[in-house]
Amino acid sequence: MNNNQQMLLNEVYMYHESQEFNNILNFINEKTALESCKKYSHHGHTNLYEHSVAVAYLSYKILKRVNDKNLDEVIIGALLHDYFLYDWHIPDDNRKLHGINHPITALENAKKELALSDISQDVIKKHMFPLTLTPPKYFGSWVVSLSDKIIATQEIYDNFSFKIKHYMKERSFI
Ligand SMILES: [Fe+2]
Ligand SMILES: [Fe+2]
Repeated sequence: MNNNQQMLLNEVYMYHESQEFNNILNFINEKTALESCKKYSHHGHTNLYEHSVAVAYLSYKILKRVNDKNLDEVIIGALLHDYFLYDWHIPDDNRKLHGINHPITALENAKKELALSDISQDVIKKHMFPLTLTPPKYFGSWVVSLSDKIIATQEIYDNFSFKIKHYMKERSFI
Protein backbone atom coordinates (compact mmCIF):
# COMPACT_ATOMS: atom_id res chain seq x y z
CA MET A 1 0.00 0.00 0.00
CA ASN A 2 1.47 3.38 -0.94
CA ASN A 3 1.36 6.54 1.20
CA ASN A 4 -1.61 8.06 -0.58
CA GLN A 5 -3.70 4.92 -0.10
CA GLN A 6 -2.73 4.76 3.59
CA MET A 7 -3.63 8.43 4.06
CA LEU A 8 -7.02 7.92 2.44
CA LEU A 9 -7.72 4.92 4.69
CA ASN A 10 -6.71 6.91 7.78
CA GLU A 11 -8.99 9.71 6.69
CA VAL A 12 -11.87 7.32 6.05
CA TYR A 13 -11.74 6.07 9.64
CA MET A 14 -10.24 8.85 11.71
CA TYR A 15 -11.80 12.11 10.60
CA HIS A 16 -13.96 13.63 7.97
CA GLU A 17 -12.70 16.88 6.61
CA SER A 18 -15.78 17.61 4.57
CA GLN A 19 -18.57 19.69 6.10
CA GLU A 20 -20.82 18.53 3.29
CA PHE A 21 -20.28 14.88 4.26
CA ASN A 22 -20.70 15.64 7.96
CA ASN A 23 -24.00 17.42 7.28
CA ILE A 24 -25.39 14.28 5.62
CA LEU A 25 -24.01 12.10 8.43
CA ASN A 26 -25.58 14.36 11.09
CA PHE A 27 -28.90 14.31 9.25
CA ILE A 28 -28.90 10.49 9.17
CA ASN A 29 -27.88 10.30 12.84
CA GLU A 30 -30.80 12.57 13.75
CA LYS A 31 -33.38 10.73 11.66
CA THR A 32 -32.33 7.10 12.25
CA ALA A 33 -30.78 4.87 14.89
CA LEU A 34 -27.60 4.39 12.85
CA GLU A 35 -25.49 5.21 15.91
CA SER A 36 -26.94 2.14 17.65
CA CYS A 37 -24.83 0.12 15.16
CA LYS A 38 -21.79 1.02 17.28
CA LYS A 39 -22.71 -1.89 19.53
CA TYR A 40 -22.37 -4.48 16.73
CA SER A 41 -18.88 -5.60 15.83
CA HIS A 42 -18.50 -6.09 12.10
CA HIS A 43 -15.12 -7.20 10.78
CA GLY A 44 -12.98 -7.70 13.86
CA HIS A 45 -12.02 -4.35 15.39
CA THR A 46 -14.49 -2.32 13.42
CA ASN A 47 -18.05 -1.85 14.55
CA LEU A 48 -20.93 -1.65 12.12
CA TYR A 49 -21.28 2.13 12.50
CA GLU A 50 -17.60 2.75 11.72
CA HIS A 51 -17.83 0.41 8.75
CA SER A 52 -20.93 2.15 7.37
CA VAL A 53 -19.41 5.63 7.73
CA ALA A 54 -16.12 4.47 6.18
CA VAL A 55 -17.94 2.99 3.15
CA ALA A 56 -19.99 6.18 2.77
CA TYR A 57 -16.93 8.42 3.05
CA LEU A 58 -14.88 6.46 0.52
CA SER A 59 -17.89 6.59 -1.85
CA TYR A 60 -18.18 10.33 -1.19
CA LYS A 61 -14.52 10.91 -2.10
CA ILE A 62 -14.91 8.98 -5.37
CA LEU A 63 -18.22 10.63 -6.34
CA LYS A 64 -16.86 14.12 -5.63
CA ARG A 65 -14.07 13.49 -8.12
CA VAL A 66 -16.55 12.75 -10.88
CA ASN A 67 -19.05 15.42 -9.82
CA ASP A 68 -21.88 12.94 -9.39
CA LYS A 69 -25.10 14.91 -9.25
CA ASN A 70 -26.89 12.37 -7.05
CA LEU A 71 -24.26 12.60 -4.32
CA ASP A 72 -26.61 13.20 -1.35
CA GLU A 73 -28.96 10.36 -2.24
CA VAL A 74 -26.07 7.94 -2.80
CA ILE A 75 -24.39 8.85 0.50
CA ILE A 76 -27.67 8.43 2.40
CA GLY A 77 -27.94 4.93 0.90
CA ALA A 78 -24.28 4.21 1.67
CA LEU A 79 -24.66 5.19 5.33
CA LEU A 80 -27.66 2.85 5.63
CA HIS A 81 -26.40 0.03 3.40
CA ASP A 82 -25.87 -2.31 6.40
CA TYR A 83 -28.71 -1.03 8.57
CA PHE A 84 -29.86 -4.55 9.47
CA LEU A 85 -29.65 -3.93 13.26
CA TYR A 86 -28.46 -7.24 14.65
CA ASP A 87 -25.17 -8.97 15.38
CA TRP A 88 -24.64 -11.24 12.38
CA HIS A 89 -22.06 -13.28 14.33
CA ILE A 90 -24.81 -14.69 16.57
CA PRO A 91 -26.48 -17.69 14.90
CA ASP A 92 -30.24 -17.29 14.49
CA ASP A 93 -32.58 -19.53 12.50
CA ASN A 94 -34.64 -16.48 11.49
CA ARG A 95 -31.63 -14.88 9.83
CA LYS A 96 -30.23 -17.60 7.64
CA LEU A 97 -28.29 -16.50 4.55
CA HIS A 98 -27.33 -13.18 6.12
CA GLY A 99 -25.05 -12.31 3.18
CA ILE A 100 -27.91 -12.49 0.70
CA ASN A 101 -30.81 -11.26 2.81
CA HIS A 102 -29.37 -8.39 4.87
CA PRO A 103 -29.68 -5.69 2.15
CA ILE A 104 -33.48 -6.15 2.13
CA THR A 105 -33.60 -6.10 5.96
CA ALA A 106 -31.50 -2.92 5.94
CA LEU A 107 -33.81 -1.32 3.38
CA GLU A 108 -36.95 -2.22 5.34
CA ASN A 109 -35.46 -0.79 8.56
CA ALA A 110 -34.35 2.40 6.82
CA LYS A 111 -37.73 2.93 5.15
CA LYS A 112 -39.46 2.84 8.54
CA GLU A 113 -37.51 5.94 9.57
CA LEU A 114 -36.91 7.85 6.36
CA ALA A 115 -38.49 8.49 2.97
CA LEU A 116 -35.83 7.17 0.60
CA SER A 117 -35.38 8.06 -3.06
CA ASP A 118 -35.10 5.34 -5.70
CA ILE A 119 -31.33 5.93 -5.84
CA SER A 120 -30.84 5.54 -2.06
CA GLN A 121 -32.95 2.38 -2.14
CA ASP A 122 -30.97 0.96 -5.06
CA VAL A 123 -27.69 1.62 -3.21
CA ILE A 124 -28.87 -0.37 -0.17
CA LYS A 125 -30.60 -3.17 -2.08
CA LYS A 126 -27.78 -3.87 -4.57
CA HIS A 127 -24.62 -3.32 -2.51
CA MET A 128 -23.92 -7.06 -2.23
CA PHE A 129 -23.87 -7.62 -6.01
CA PRO A 130 -22.82 -10.12 -7.39
CA LEU A 131 -23.82 -12.21 -4.34
CA THR A 132 -27.30 -10.83 -4.86
CA LEU A 133 -27.94 -11.30 -8.54
CA THR A 134 -29.48 -8.04 -9.72
CA PRO A 135 -26.81 -5.49 -10.71
CA PRO A 136 -26.89 -1.88 -9.43
CA LYS A 137 -28.97 0.48 -11.54
CA TYR A 138 -27.07 3.73 -10.89
CA PHE A 139 -23.42 4.72 -11.11
CA GLY A 140 -23.48 5.68 -7.41
CA SER A 141 -24.77 2.22 -6.46
CA TRP A 142 -21.79 0.66 -8.27
CA VAL A 143 -19.42 2.98 -6.40
CA VAL A 144 -20.91 2.04 -3.01
CA SER A 145 -20.81 -1.66 -3.84
CA LEU A 146 -17.12 -1.31 -4.77
CA SER A 147 -16.30 0.85 -1.72
CA ASP A 148 -17.97 -1.72 0.54
CA LYS A 149 -15.70 -4.44 -0.86
CA ILE A 150 -12.56 -2.30 -0.49
CA ILE A 151 -13.37 -1.31 3.11
CA ALA A 152 -14.44 -4.85 4.10
CA THR A 153 -11.24 -6.31 2.64
CA GLN A 154 -9.15 -3.77 4.55
CA GLU A 155 -11.01 -4.50 7.81
CA ILE A 156 -10.64 -8.26 7.41
CA TYR A 157 -6.95 -7.89 6.54
CA ASP A 158 -6.33 -5.65 9.60
CA ASN A 159 -8.09 -8.11 11.87
CA PHE A 160 -6.18 -11.06 10.43
CA SER A 161 -2.77 -9.37 10.71
CA PHE A 162 -3.58 -8.30 14.30
CA LYS A 163 -4.37 -11.91 15.21
CA ILE A 164 -1.17 -13.19 13.57
CA LYS A 165 0.94 -10.59 15.43
CA HIS A 166 -0.80 -11.45 18.71
CA TYR A 167 -0.19 -15.18 18.11
CA MET A 168 3.51 -14.57 17.32
CA LYS A 169 3.97 -12.30 20.36
CA GLU A 170 2.36 -14.83 22.70
CA ARG A 171 4.79 -17.47 21.50
CA SER A 172 7.73 -15.05 21.65
CA PHE A 173 8.41 -15.24 17.93
CA ILE A 174 8.54 -11.44 17.83
FE1 LIG B 1 -23.62 -5.46 3.58
FE1 LIG C 1 -20.98 -3.20 4.30
